[in-house]
Amino acid sequence: MEPWQRLLLLLLSPLLWLPSSSSAFCTLDEEGDNCFCNFSAPEPKWNDIAMCISAVEVEILGGSHNLETFLQKDFAVSSKAVDFLKALRLKRLKLKEALIPAPLLYQFLRALTYTRMKELALEDLVISHPPLQPRSPIDNDLPLTALNLNRVSLAGESNLLAAIGPWLKPGLKALRLTGLGLGNVPCPDLGTFKELNFLDLSDNPEIGESGLTRALCLKELQELQDLVLRNTSLQSLGKVCLGLEATGTNVQRLDISYNELKDMPTTQCTWPPTLISLNLSHAQLKCVPKPLPTNLRQLDLSYNLLRKKPIFNELPQETEVILEGNPFANSSVSAKLQGKQKPLDCDVSSRGSKSGGTPLALQVSGTAALALLRGVRGFS
Ligand SMILES: *[C@@H]1O[C@H](CO)[C@@H](O)[C@H](O)[C@H]1NC(C)=O
Ligand SMILES: *[C@@H]1O[C@H](CO)[C@@H](O)[C@H](O)[C@H]1NC(C)=O
Ligand SMILES: *[C@@H]1O[C@H](CO)[C@@H](O)[C@H](O)[C@H]1NC(C)=O
Ligand SMILES: *[C@@H]1O[C@H](CO)[C@@H](O)[C@H](O)[C@H]1NC(C)=O
Repeated sequence: MEPWQRLLLLLLSPLLWLPSSSSAFCTLDEEGDNCFCNFSAPEPKWNDIAMCISAVEVEILGGSHNLETFLQKDFAVSSKAVDFLKALRLKRLKLKEALIPAPLLYQFLRALTYTRMKELALEDLVISHPPLQPRSPIDNDLPLTALNLNRVSLAGESNLLAAIGPWLKPGLKALRLTGLGLGNVPCPDLGTFKELNFLDLSDNPEIGESGLTRALCLKELQELQDLVLRNTSLQSLGKVCLGLEATGTNVQRLDISYNELKDMPTTQCTWPPTLISLNLSHAQLKCVPKPLPTNLRQLDLSYNLLRKKPIFNELPQETEVILEGNPFANSSVSAKLQGKQKPLDCDVSSRGSKSGGTPLALQVSGTAALALLRGVRGFS
């Protein structure tokens, strides 16, 4: 068998191989739609992937193996292979945990252009032997609607999207570029995806507010409805608001959970009037921030440090608010706070309330003082 056929076998299965009824490495669900292969064992039987031949959705766990053996020297897709690839039902493919040489990734992308693939996810991959050969004029498009690149590192090249982007068509709807070490919203490479409606840039801690403020391409992405910036070192809600204002974006849902947002003083800023959902979960907030977007319908404030149940007029009317995981909602914590703690006044900055708490802690001694001090530190 030629190496490229083994590549297809690995990733897509060739016609020649009949699927066996059971396999130690792959499982296919009853409908024959979803197939999962786990090749983590030291000596995996790659051919077992033939079981996935009928599947619509395939997930392959590479167990950090080097896929170099699937590389073909002179790569060409024969007409027989094209027929085979066209016949596959495959729509969604996830490839996880593997070392893949750049030339193999190129052959892989090329083979995929003959399939009906709509959603591709590459996760925890190390791409060796750079550079990734650019798409050549004779290569077909890869008309994906969703691309997910999560913790993929491309040796020697920092911009993976620039390398993969040219294969895609403007029709891409959802793009996840997570855990890639991005320091910016990659505007030059996003500009072509005018139909993008979902953009996730989570787990790129170098982005920060400055990266957001510079992301002027967000304005051009007129279809963008969801912007996810989890764990991107955002620190000030005021600056996030100003950043969005600067970009002129019309997003409807913004997820900035898992950022350590310091309570913000009131800033002169207008949230995008289109914004209807704001996720501020796991954000270390001690107060309900304001101003909030005016047309907000959903606000997730779960797992923050709210010690008081927000009062009615702190929240926009007709907004669904999620408050679980806050200290006030935990009976054991709120019982401890009862009577001992001066309630935090959310109208003043948190700096003011810290000095208000300290003298109180000094009045008690021993374990109680320690416990209280710990509580007070929570305010600082
Ligand atoms: C994959 O297989 C390995 C053993 O080879 C096992 O330890 C691991 O839990 C499996 N992973 C999944 C997601 O099934
Ligand atoms: C934030 O992103 C970094 C880098 O991708 C990752 O190491 C870290 O675990 C993430 N933190 C959370 C809370 O997900
Ligand atoms: C908000 O974000 C958190 C953490 O990322 C997530 O668990 C939660 O489901 C999100 N909330 C909504 C309403 O989507
Ligand atoms: C309530 O707080 C206690 C003490 O901090 C903690 O152990 C417990 O897990 C919390 N319960 C919930 C439901 O968060």
